[in-house]
Amino acid sequence: YGTQAINDKGNLTIGGVDTITLAKTYGTPQFVYDLALFRERARGFIDAFAQQDVKAQVAYASKAFSAVAIYQVAAQENLSVDVVSGGELHTALQAGFPSERIHFHGNNKSIEELHQAFDAKIGCIVIDNFYEIELLKEIAAEKQQKMAVLIRVTPGVEAHTHDFITTGQADSKFGFDLSNGQADQAFERLYKEELLQFKGMHCHIGSQIFETEAFSLAARKVVDKMAVWEKETGFKASVLNLGGGFGIRYTAEDSPLEPAVYVADMIKAVKKEAADFGIELPEIWIEPGRSLVGDAGTTLYTVGSSKEVPKVRNYIAIDGGMSDNIRPALYDAKYEAVIANKMTQSNEITYTIAGKLCESGDKIIEDITLPKAEVGDTIATFCTGAYGYSMASNYNRIARPAVVFVEDGQHQLVVRRETLEDLVKLDLPFTLGEG
Ligand code: LLP
Repeated sequence: YGTQAINDKGNLTIGGVDTITLAKTYGTPQFVYDLALFRERARGFIDAFAQQDVKAQVAYASKAFSAVAIYQVAAQENLSVDVVSGGELHTALQAGFPSERIHFHGNNKSIEELHQAFDAKIGCIVIDNFYEIELLKEIAAEKQQKMAVLIRVTPGVEAHTHDFITTGQADSKFGFDLSNGQADQAFERLYKEELLQFKGMHCHIGSQIFETEAFSLAARKVVDKMAVWEKETGFKASVLNLGGGFGIRYTAEDSPLEPAVYVADMIKAVKKEAADFGIELPEIWIEPGRSLVGDAGTTLYTVGSSKEVPKVRNYIAIDGGMSDNIRPALYDAKYEAVIANKMTQSNEITYTIAGKLCESGDKIIEDITLPKAEVGDTIATFCTGAYGYSMASNYNRIARPAVVFVEDGQHQLVVRRETLEDLVKLDLPFTLGEG
């Protein structure tokens, strides 16, 4: 992946930095992000639109990994960002991210969060439901402030990895149904508003998708709806946001496409449909999360104890686990790993890599063949950059890991490891009844 290599000590390097040096400097577990790869992915998406002269915004879906430093790099790369909470919004603003390029999502944004969005003058709010329309009307009127809005629709296309299904009505907690009149009703309530400036539609059809047809189909359905509205009212919607979901390669079983391929097929479908229905080509926005940060991230762990279940399994235990990577336990997600200090040794023993948390399901990888593992070895798990740190927890009161960025032979700590003091800093002693 990316800038990974092996140095003359037989150690894994990322961004020209020895991972064993990183492990010693910042401790483990540690997330290491290869910034060159993040930048390459961002440019891959942006260039694919530019090459075809299509107006676009590529918004980093920051739920995949939200921290001040990544918003700074996203800003450098001319990305927009999608935030889904007041917390992500606050973090982006702390990073100095240009507020006009922030998009706010969520199916139950609080009144406080909506105020926060208006006060920060963000670029657009993606409206999810009728209650939110009413809230936004009130807030815009009260503040006498404009806000660009999209509506999120469920187009009845649902994609999972290689397959997609189309359903007349989508059973989803998100958005307005495109087929049963809900989306039309939302449009009716919005397009004449002056303070709320209706720009168009958003849909997100799934995650870790490996083919382009599902995106094309969803795009066509949404463009058709735009054309119908334009015919009925004369109102021209200018934005079509097709969400995220572009797949990445976690293991050899995954076969994702290049960013440019997803984008090219998407543009083709939108252009054709817009031409067929005689409407102007809308701006196309996308929201990649996983495909920007996923394979840029690697987790470093230290090997501690081990256990042999004779004839069944060899366990080695690492100093993290489901507290920094819940995906194997939650989704049965698969990963690849190496012993970062034994890159030139041959693989000879099959291990299950277990975490240190008190759950038997706390395993990072089952049945991986590695060189003989010893106490103190550094395990590197690849492709942990998306939904790893962002879904980390303090279960078992485990401190959350450090996050380090590497680029061009340099490294910098961007999220420090939690300390024991951090773990109790919200706790207040119970004093009732002390007299
Ligand atoms: N836009 C919207 C509206 C979304 O709901 C999502 C992800 C994205 C963009 C970004 O999708 P991506 O490009 O990252 O696939 N925790 C799960 C993934 C949940 C995705 C939720 N929505 C996991 O670890 O696989």
